[in-house]
Amino acid sequence: MCGIVAYLGQRRAQPILIEGLKRLEYRGYDSAGVAIRCADGMHLAKAVGRIMMLENEAALRSCDAGTLGIAHTRWATHGGPSVENAHPHTDASGKLAVVHNGIIENHSALRKLLEQEGVVFRSETDSEVLPHLFAKYYRGDLAEAVRQGLKEVRGTYGIAVIHADNPDALVAARNGSPLIVGIGDGEFVVASDASAIIAHTTRVVYLEDREIVTLTRDGFSTSTIDAVPTSKEIQEVEWDLEQIEKKGYAHFMLKEIYEQPESLADTTRGRIDIEEATAVLGGLRAFAKELTRAKRIILTGCGTAWHSALIGEYLFEDLARIPVEVEYASEFRYRNPIIEDGTVVVAISQSGETADTLAAVREARNKGALTLGIVNVVGSTIARETDAGVYLHAGPEIGVASTKAFTSQVMVLFLMTLFLGRRRHMAHHHAVNIIQALTRVPDQVRDLLKQDGHIEEIARTYKDRENWLYLGRGYNFPIALEGALKLKEISYVHAEGLPAAEMKHGPIALITPDMPVVFLANRGLQYDKIMSNIEEVRSRGGRVIAVATEGDEEIGSHADHVIRVPDVGESLQPLLNVVPLQLLAYHVAVMRGCAVDKPRNLAKSVTVE
Ligand code: M6R
Repeated sequence: MCGIVAYLGQRRAQPILIEGLKRLEYRGYDSAGVAIRCADGMHLAKAVGRIMMLENEAALRSCDAGTLGIAHTRWATHGGPSVENAHPHTDASGKLAVVHNGIIENHSALRKLLEQEGVVFRSETDSEVLPHLFAKYYRGDLAEAVRQGLKEVRGTYGIAVIHADNPDALVAARNGSPLIVGIGDGEFVVASDASAIIAHTTRVVYLEDREIVTLTRDGFSTSTIDAVPTSKEIQEVEWDLEQIEKKGYAHFMLKEIYEQPESLADTTRGRIDIEEATAVLGGLRAFAKELTRAKRIILTGCGTAWHSALIGEYLFEDLARIPVEVEYASEFRYRNPIIEDGTVVVAISQSGETADTLAAVREARNKGALTLGIVNVVGSTIARETDAGVYLHAGPEIGVASTKAFTSQVMVLFLMTLFLGRRRHMAHHHAVNIIQALTRVPDQVRDLLKQDGHIEEIARTYKDRENWLYLGRGYNFPIALEGALKLKEISYVHAEGLPAAEMKHGPIALITPDMPVVFLANRGLQYDKIMSNIEEVRSRGGRVIAVATEGDEEIGSHADHVIRVPDVGESLQPLLNVVPLQLLAYHVAVMRGCAVDKPRNLAKSVTVE
């Protein structure tokens, strides 16, 4: 996620802003920038890479005395990491500067309008519409200009705005992107995250959605975007820095599991056209014709990304009716794959830097395939080297075990299914049903997370077991693989995922009363078959943990433990089923005393083949 810090007070803004940016470093970023209001106007400095690079910028050192400024660390969404795309963005005069977190959904329309009015854009970002919009309404009252401008904006934002002609005003606003105002002694520090504030003050005001704050050297006032005054209670921040970085969660992995309702919503934000019942994927638009005519799609990736590729295979074949193959990226490259006309290779990667996946992309490209990327890190190598792609917009994932990136990968595959399916055989009403179901998923995940305590108890029962099996059929088979991978990578317990029917071809010999077996046992086409598999395990003394459909009374008498999930239909079930398995793995690992966020022998990004 991007980070915001802003300062208005008696002290030099520059070191406070830089230190604040450093506090936000743990969130991950790709570029940063600062704007400081000095006696001779606005001073702007930006750099790609670490904050250190920004500190070296001569422009930053040239304005040492300013006591008003804004700063930003960027996690690219629209437009790759570059100096031009880094914030702050300014209006044409260079006097009005804005930092922005979030996504402006109607940025294309606003950009077009502003261009017609003569504005020349200097970046590829959605954020740059903001300074131009505010400048349009600026008549000396900065807060009023921001309020007017925001009325035209659709999307999420946390913003801080300053103007060179207003040495005593800092304006900030939020809608769906957090913003906190730190209230010090004769000074204010505004930030997207309390970690950038508490070195200066522990007294804060939390802004609500569609709320705007005007800070001056005399005090502050808040109102809604529609100019209705609001009153705010000053609160004490009680967390220490370490806690704040993890937002009070014990581990990044847990925080990221809990972020999934938001990350899933971010993945779909602005990408659904309900009228046409399709997905709007700007990155694929230029290749829509090739994709519609594609004869075969090869999905490739490693680890968790490979599991999402398996779900993609079910989705594309089942719903968009395109033949799909799924390949481990490491195998694809060395087996001399046949790439014919009409073959599209889709690489899936959270980091966008995985060496095996990158090698697969290069191999596919050399053989003439159209290559697409489904990537989280904007501007990463895979994002750059593929012909086109779709970003996850899941925000930075810091825990080594991939959680929110996985669900966002599956969500993007769904969006691509709509994009392709509607151009091929998918009926309008079918797509409408899918879209309606998709939009309910974030809330359903939020509800599922309430079972955390129950799942923790299951983990406590089996934490000392050294061998686990995960079994599922159809769309749930990749979830069995993913559940097993999560457990083994963070708790160092041996776990195997299998298609449930395969058990009788060998693994059934492993079943003893010591063996917990996790079944993905939702009601659906293969329910009776799964129930038979459960009985096979039980009759050998194995312990059964079933992820089952809410309201299924029957399952209770067959399983030792039941985790209930809503019935969302076969194709959507993976998005929900994986969540309890992430929590189960997490709790087992914590109870075994493992380093959950940095498991032994593993790295977040595997850049060696
Ligand atoms: O960054 P990528 O998605 O390309 O990474 C691929 C795998 O290394 C990754 O998914 C790995 O399996 C995770 N640790 C799983 O949690």
